[in-house]
Amino acid sequence: MTREEVAAGLTEVVRRAVGAVIDPELRRPLAELDMVRGVSVDGATAHVEIALTIVGCPAAARIESEVRAAAASVPGVSVVELAVGVMSPDERRALTEKLRGGRPARQMPFGPGSLTRVIAVTSGKGGVGKSTVTANLAVALAERGLAVGLVDADVHGFSIPALLGLVDADGLPPSPTRIDDLMLPPVAHGVKTISIGMFLRRSTDGPLGAVAWRGPMLHRTIQQFLTDVYFGDLDVLLLDMPPGTGDVAISVGQLLPQADVLVVTTPQSAASDVAVRSGLVARQTGQRVIGVVENMAAMTLPDGTTLDLFGAGGGAQVAADLSQDGDEVRVLASIPLSTALRADGDDGAPVVLAHPHDPAAVAIAALAAELAAQPRGLAGKSLPFAPR
Ligand SMILES: Nc1ncnc2c1ncn2[C@@H]1O[C@H](COP(=O)(O)OP(=O)(O)O)[C@@H](O)[C@H]1O
Ligand SMILES: [Mg+2]
Repeated sequence: MTREEVAAGLTEVVRRAVGAVIDPELRRPLAELDMVRGVSVDGATAHVEIALTIVGCPAAARIESEVRAAAASVPGVSVVELAVGVMSPDERRALTEKLRGGRPARQMPFGPGSLTRVIAVTSGKGGVGKSTVTANLAVALAERGLAVGLVDADVHGFSIPALLGLVDADGLPPSPTRIDDLMLPPVAHGVKTISIGMFLRRSTDGPLGAVAWRGPMLHRTIQQFLTDVYFGDLDVLLLDMPPGTGDVAISVGQLLPQADVLVVTTPQSAASDVAVRSGLVARQTGQRVIGVVENMAAMTLPDGTTLDLFGAGGGAQVAADLSQDGDEVRVLASIPLSTALRADGDDGAPVVLAHPHDPAAVAIAALAAELAAQPRGLAGKSLPFAPR
């Protein structure tokens, strides 16, 4: 082989190695994202040029070091010269178009006909563990290998970033990277996550700002989360709903009429009564109640005795009240009270990962297994009209 042939062969191998590096935010190989601009090999030196999507890309350091490592791993290469540029506006436009998969800007990808299963997690009132269950369920589904997105639809009472440990060094939720009008959701434990908390900033050293919006702003926020956030192809999109049947529940019902709904309740009858109402409102918009999750159920204490702080039977009651002819609603999980679950939530380390053998974690993992096994598609969905 001539020197030129060796160099050409090496160049191709380096190009492939560099092209296979995964962009940590977009979760796709650099080659597919057209981020590899040029590769050449000269003796044992590989010259590589890549183009980042935006100036000050937060993932830049990681991409650079992975590109260097990939090029250096090719036998025959001992020196890597890396040049890092930034995409031109035209290149960026081509990229965002590609990421949208031909879908026009501002079109919501999760509407009817979408292959992503949408599951809205609702409850009648706050404090029943909806966000904790949603965050852990998302992580458990991702652990099973599914592509999972999580929308924190509780705009006024957002809590998902903290539960997933999504905080920067300054203690704030990270801001999503923007590529033009496309926002990249931060990823926590394999879950692509978006929350209004990522858009709020401290004034000085005070607490995070509060959101005091009325219906139309809330609607626009949810719509933007669903439209302008690049989730890519998801198997499951979970929504952590605010408690009750207010503006957001109605907006989500309008935007995602094909969503499945999980109703969370405690075993207490006061909680179960309002939980039933949230299920009924979801059903009015065409959504399907796929099951009830009873949370804060009896826990077994170290001495073997049982602590049932919130009584018993609430889950079964809600399931019975929401069942109707031909559409039986079951209790899909009963999650016990758990100190580990509560403490791990405070630490931003989901219990399903931090303490997978904790009884609450086991119950949530079983729920994830059951949901993952359910067939997708229109089977079992009530049609918006009665067959003749
Ligand atoms: N099974 C459980 N055992 C112990 N504490 C729980 C359990 N589920 C939730 N919690 C705690 O209850 C509080 C409310 O939970 P959260 O998920 O914020 O509820 P919601 O989203 O319904 O308002 C949190 O402090 C959480 O840690
Ligand atoms: Mg909540």
